[in-house]
Amino acid sequence: MPKPSCTIVLGTQWGDEGKGKIVDLLAQNVDIVARYQGGANAGHTILLPDGRQFVLHLIPSGIFHENVTCVIGNGVVIDPVALLDEIRMVEEQGITVRGRLFISHNAHLIMPYHKMLDQAAEQRMSKDGSAVGTTGRGIGPAYEDKFARKGIRIVDLLDRESLREKLRHNIAEKNELLDKFYGASERCDVDQLIADYEIFDREIDPYITDTALLLNRAIKAGKSLLLEGAQAALLDIDFGTYPFVTSSNPTAGGACTGLGIPPMAIDRVIGVAKAYTTRVGNGPFPTELLDETGEKLREAGHEYGATTGRPRRCGWFDAVAVRYTNMINGVSSLALTKLDVLSGFPEVKLCTHYERKSDGRAIAHFTNDLRLLADIRPIYESFEGWTKESLEGAASREDLPQTTQRYLDALEREVECPLEIISVGAGREETLGVGTALMSE
Ligand code: IMP
Repeated sequence: MPKPSCTIVLGTQWGDEGKGKIVDLLAQNVDIVARYQGGANAGHTILLPDGRQFVLHLIPSGIFHENVTCVIGNGVVIDPVALLDEIRMVEEQGITVRGRLFISHNAHLIMPYHKMLDQAAEQRMSKDGSAVGTTGRGIGPAYEDKFARKGIRIVDLLDRESLREKLRHNIAEKNELLDKFYGASERCDVDQLIADYEIFDREIDPYITDTALLLNRAIKAGKSLLLEGAQAALLDIDFGTYPFVTSSNPTAGGACTGLGIPPMAIDRVIGVAKAYTTRVGNGPFPTELLDETGEKLREAGHEYGATTGRPRRCGWFDAVAVRYTNMINGVSSLALTKLDVLSGFPEVKLCTHYERKSDGRAIAHFTNDLRLLADIRPIYESFEGWTKESLEGAASREDLPQTTQRYLDALEREVECPLEIISVGAGREETLGVGTALMSE
């Protein structure tokens, strides 16, 4: 099979599906890995064969493969403090970043006032129970400024006079908001910011380029690209459970706008789904388990946020939700992760459809209408678990216990999409490539 030239890898649930591992795995066979949205709110965990584990927040998950070029696209919002820390952390491991990482000159910067506003807004909303439960990394306020045409882009760092002017305007507005509206004690100072960002500018400068040009030239030259989404489709600003979402488009369309790649250049979309469901932050979650089973999933899956350390909410796999996100993204195949976490559960459940609590009507399609979501209950198909058999050492799907295979067959049928990759552990080798088109040239 010819090597596909342009593949999107994105999350199909509420994030934390294990995209970092899948991108790292597939990156063995590509030339470029490019990140298209979000910011340091993401936490992509990667376990290297020698046992070292890393959490990447901004740098694409291809950085651990020496021949791979990594790109941070215009759709990403960049916190220079987080970025420079991460570059140092990767370099300390003996990995070359300079000359391999390229950052879009059009990417917007996260400023300290974005983080202050994010946290102040959440604090205020928590009083009436409407907080989103953000990561507090300034993501929402940075995108607000981008779309209000007030944002500071990396390219703006080049013109000190105009930067000073823009910052003066922004800071006057933000300080007023922090003071008068939020009653927060923190303030930003223009001169301090200019001084800090001059240092960032010098340090970031070698990485800055026109990444849309770089990527389109690479496509023309026949290079293979992997486009890495952060967060996930159900956190998408347009298609997620709004307003309990992030402020960007993790869905497939976001890859085009967040990188400057034409839609026709994209060959396929790999959706990543966990074998169960988790969510961190507030908002609807139809299959959430608030009982011992949910607790057991959290402990078995080490379900604590990679960015904030918050305990994740846990529940059974929701095929209604993944069917929907497969549709929105045109997912061609799924990578199912953390199947091993379900080992030891006497019973495993799969939500096939919902039922309205008010009138018992069956609902087969996901909705992001919060009122309707509040009125539904999940309907499950139940499976005998694999309590004694281990998934270890399986080389293919056929090697898995019969009970596990029955669960996978039903899941594949319900999400209406082939399972191409199945992950049964954190390591690269603990992966069953079912029809591994990307991994074989
Ligand atoms: P924000 O992206 O920090 O504004 O947070 C908005 C929502 O997205 C919150 O519910 C967060 O918990 C969630 N979120 C943001 N980034 C991630 C992630 O990488 N994994 C899972 N949830 C995330």
